[in-house]
Amino acid sequence: MDVRFETKPIEQFPADCIVISIFEDEEKLRGEIGRMDKILKGAISELKKDGEIKGKRGEATLVHTRCSLPAKRVVVLGLGKKSDCDMDAVRFAMGSLVTRLRGSGINHLASGLIGTGSRKLSARTTAQALAEGALLGSYTFEKYHKTDLPAPEAFTLLVDDRSKKPDANNGLKKGSILARAQNLARDLANEPSNSMTPTILAEVAARVAKEVGLKIMVLDEKEAEKEGMGAFLGVARGTDEPAKVIVLRYRPSDSNLLALVGKGITFDSGGISIKPSLNMDSMKADMSGAASVLSAMWAIGQLKPRIGVLGIMPATENMPSGHAMKPGDIVKSMSGQTIEVVNTDAEGRLALADAITYAKKLGAGTVVDVATLTGACLISLGEIASGLISNDDRLANLLLKISDETGEKMWRLPTFSEYDEQLRSDIADVKNSGGRPAGTITAGMFLKRFVGDTPWAHIDIAGKEVVEKPTGYRLKGSTGVSTRTLIELALRMAGK
Ligand code: BES
Ligand code: MN
Ligand code: ZN
Repeated sequence: MDVRFETKPIEQFPADCIVISIFEDEEKLRGEIGRMDKILKGAISELKKDGEIKGKRGEATLVHTRCSLPAKRVVVLGLGKKSDCDMDAVRFAMGSLVTRLRGSGINHLASGLIGTGSRKLSARTTAQALAEGALLGSYTFEKYHKTDLPAPEAFTLLVDDRSKKPDANNGLKKGSILARAQNLARDLANEPSNSMTPTILAEVAARVAKEVGLKIMVLDEKEAEKEGMGAFLGVARGTDEPAKVIVLRYRPSDSNLLALVGKGITFDSGGISIKPSLNMDSMKADMSGAASVLSAMWAIGQLKPRIGVLGIMPATENMPSGHAMKPGDIVKSMSGQTIEVVNTDAEGRLALADAITYAKKLGAGTVVDVATLTGACLISLGEIASGLISNDDRLANLLLKISDETGEKMWRLPTFSEYDEQLRSDIADVKNSGGRPAGTITAGMFLKRFVGDTPWAHIDIAGKEVVEKPTGYRLKGSTGVSTRTLIELALRMAGK
């Protein structure tokens, strides 16, 4: 979808459809919607009186203008309660609308800064949320199969108030970059594992690096071995696909270094502790953390915050075979800690442990990892919120605040030292599974051992990376979740 900016008043713009908004608790039609109602000879107030327009978030009511405007239609878009109207309300409503209009032949949408009047929104944040909703809602993955329901092709933001123009235009551009990055993450994770191998992921990373001017380094298995990454390489033993540790770097000379680490298991069969075949296909998306990190780096390269950022993606398949790692095997991690692998399906933490140690070796001052780490995270927090685990209150609170704005919900889980007991091994420093109880927490506690004193946060996106039931801008398939939160984190830490 094309996103554009114009300074015309909405009454003069010839789009297929002009979008105006209404709150659920808006009694009188004032301002923009009041003007439109007059132009449409009371059609909107009549629909409202008859209860066809309620203003619920995402509700969309089409009205034909019948030559009273250059635009052919007006759509009245509900934003929910005025006091609850934040960036995600606008993003969600716009996403729902764009999804609803698929296959309608309505190709060009335009709106003003809808939702203004809510105290939680400015011209900049509204414009950003509109761009994000429109671009995320119009996403399709059509590489292997064309849909017959094409989404609208263009969205134009109309701002005729001179004082708001620069902010609105900046917000629109920023939102476009963030949403396009998230859509890239969706593309990568929607690819089946036979066309998204570690080698292919590294090739995509190289293209991205070249496009936005990042440094790239890809460790092959030999080089990973030299670094002592025995935990990561243990996972890679079972597959014939060459494993890679992909490292992207933005602002190489910066000493203030944020490391984004993404789990890049391009297919997780479970290994010898093999998974049941039902839904095993969804494990092609077990590299969603890496997809988010790669896409966030793409956006960071474009937005140019004043902070050094590392993107580290340990990438391999987790497969059973005659040379695969076996339950009970002990591997030696890069940190020197030995790990008893009681379950080869708890592979993500093995890959991440070495990637985190490597991030520290490269000088990371803050580490944030993103991973589809535990099925327990789907059980505890459902498809709604990601699990957040951290050793640093400032970093955790910053992420929670950002996630409130991005709509990528997160909930912090505890790190009481008692949970560590579950990871105690009799014959190694630690074991890789703490069993079923508190599975998301013990996975986080495992990673915590490799972080040391470095401020760190772990985001478990398992169950959030793919949705079955679409809502708003979260369409069926890969969601690209956490991409925008990672980008905003880099911007915020840079003071931007
Ligand atoms: N990739 C899975 C976690 C997962 C499950 C992601 C469902 C998305 C949806 C991970 O590697 C895994 O298998 N975890 C195990 C850990 C257990 C063996 C301690 C799990 O959750 O069962
Ligand atoms: Mn697994
Ligand atoms: Zn996995």
